Amino acid sequence: MKQADKRRVIILGIESSCDDTSAAVLADNMLLSNIIASQAIHQDYGGVVPELASRAHQQNIIPVVDTAIRKANIDKSEIDAVAFTLGPGLLGSLLVGTSFAKSFASALNIPFIDVNHLQAHVLSHFIAEDGEPQALPEFPFLCLLVSGGNSQIVLVRDYFDMQIVGQTIDDAAGEAFDKCAKVMGLPYPGGPHIDRLAREGDPMAFRFAMPNIAGFDYSFSGLKTSFLYTLRDAVKLNPNFVEEYRADIAASLQKTIIDILMKKLMAAAKEFKISNITVAGGVSANLGLRNAITEIGRRYGWQVFIPKPAFTTDNAAMVAVAGYFKYLKGEFCPIDRPPFARTEI
Ligand code: KG4
Repeated sequence: MKQADKRRVIILGIESSCDDTSAAVLADNMLLSNIIASQAIHQDYGGVVPELASRAHQQNIIPVVDTAIRKANIDKSEIDAVAFTLGPGLLGSLLVGTSFAKSFASALNIPFIDVNHLQAHVLSHFIAEDGEPQALPEFPFLCLLVSGGNSQIVLVRDYFDMQIVGQTIDDAAGEAFDKCAKVMGLPYPGGPHIDRLAREGDPMAFRFAMPNIAGFDYSFSGLKTSFLYTLRDAVKLNPNFVEEYRADIAASLQKTIIDILMKKLMAAAKEFKISNITVAGGVSANLGLRNAITEIGRRYGWQVFIPKPAFTTDNAAMVAVAGYFKYLKGEFCPIDRPPFARTEI
């Protein structure tokens, strides 16, 4: 490690909440390495199979952590603390990362820090990279957190002072992408395939149901049903319908999901009088969503913060940065604190 880095706090981050095994090393909030092993095995099943995910984490965790430490060019004796995802997520997957992190830190006699996966997504904007200028969101800001398991609008008053002001009452935005993609016969996860196809299609070609829900909450189950019925009826008339109109169907679906997300985000920004707006989570990799939030932000005078694609899906860099801010506050985890599965922030 470079001489100047010696005074910095070195955090090893570990993420294993779903189907990505990831380890990252930060010096303060500066990223030294971020290794992700994704689990291709779930593609054959059209969704994540929890038992297979746990087994793959077990196989991946040691090589992933080892590579992250080597790529960061540090010795493990230089690590000041280990941050890990405590939840929410799949319990078997979380147990692998949690047990590894606690054992590793205990062997080195250093503290370990529990991180909430959703808070880590929100804090991903604070990961710094060498040589890249960084604009940071100012508190309070609103974060549109959209992933495979969550769709939330989070009011972020401080690093760990977060309030969910709106959330999905049924499916998450990522699930809507994935389930509709499955209806089209696309592989899992379907979100990136819809994104790619949508670039070639007409977003106005088809109309799907928009929810009518009070407040800042979301719903995607009606859209899913309307999408299924529209395709089913069209296929009765033309068996090649999906094949012939793939790009238009994808573009129209993507537009509907983005319209649903943006409508509530705009309402929340107005209600809370907040103009620092961020987006996070796997779905924030979507080009259409990135363009829409940038365009709407320009119109409404927002400061918009969009993470690099590498920090949108599950990664340990965001876990390490959340751990770094907890380290500064002296907030460590007792050894007997268990992982948790359900959504909370
Ligand atoms: O945050 P994330 O990696 O983890 C989970 O919540 O599990 O999000 C995964 C979700 C999946 O539903 C995937 O289809 C979606 O993010 N996703 C996308 C794109 N990339 C990933 N959805 C739309 N467009 C994308 N480019």
